[in-house]
Amino acid sequence: MTTTKAVLLLLLWTGLASAESGGSHEDSAGAAIAPLPPRHPNSLPEMQEMLIEMRGELAKQKAEIRLAKAQVEEELEKLKRKNKELELKLEAVEDNNADLNNTLKQLQNINEESKVAFSVSFSVSSDIHIGPHDTDITLGFNHVFSNIGNAYSVRSGIFTAPVRGVYQFQYHIFAGGSHGAGAKLMKNGEQVAAAYNHKAPHDINTSQGLSLLLEKGDEVSLLLEAGWWVAAYQGHLTTFSGQLLFLM
Ligand SMILES: *[C@@H]1O[C@H](CO)[C@@H](O)[C@H](O)[C@H]1NC(C)=O
Ligand SMILES: *[C@@H]1O[C@H](CO)[C@@H](O)[C@H](O)[C@H]1NC(C)=O
Repeated sequence: MTTTKAVLLLLLWTGLASAESGGSHEDSAGAAIAPLPPRHPNSLPEMQEMLIEMRGELAKQKAEIRLAKAQVEEELEKLKRKNKELELKLEAVEDNNADLNNTLKQLQNINEESKVAFSVSFSVSSDIHIGPHDTDITLGFNHVFSNIGNAYSVRSGIFTAPVRGVYQFQYHIFAGGSHGAGAKLMKNGEQVAAAYNHKAPHDINTSQGLSLLLEKGDEVSLLLEAGWWVAAYQGHLTTFSGQLLFLM
């Protein structure tokens, strides 16, 4: 370092020092703070001593800056790690969300296909009887109270299970007493159960109800045997109902 440069630096140094001490000479509360004693180096050795001090100060500041930088970098690393963690968590939440969406969709489908229920009777303009016939016939109920899921066919009088499940069926038969009255519950053309009353000197009421495990496509209907009859009255005294209880 040349002497002129050193002198300039020194001037700067002492200027700063006095500015500092001047600025904080008295605070607003009036408490006096001892000013730094102004330094006016008079000799080269003194100047050299001050330069050495300044170097020391610089080195200290450099070390402090390095430390601060290291701390900032460490903090940044921590934040990056935390960010990565959060990204992974978010991905997991999104995956879970997609799974839940699928489950929800499946449950919605199940809920939709579980809506199966019908109740039917005869639509007539006057009170009549159906039968007795020479042969067995399927009772063609043509008055629809409800037919959720459209599994009962008015055209054929047959209920076709839309899904595998447990279904409950009920029927009630009303008839005059002049003939045997009743009906058989048929599954795929086979008798499962029957409700019957012999010919009697009065009106007849008979009923039946049961739960059946049905495969998709199984057919259930009521059969009127040859020689039997059932009333088809306007008051709907003869009815046939079925409901899906639950899927299997
Ligand atoms: C889940 O479904 C909702 C609505 O159907 C949709 O807005 C969302 O993007 C879906 N989420 C995923 C992760 O598939
Ligand atoms: C059968 O039920 C009907 C009403 O649904 C009733 O009028 C009739 O008296 C009942 N018959 C007998 C024998 O109980």
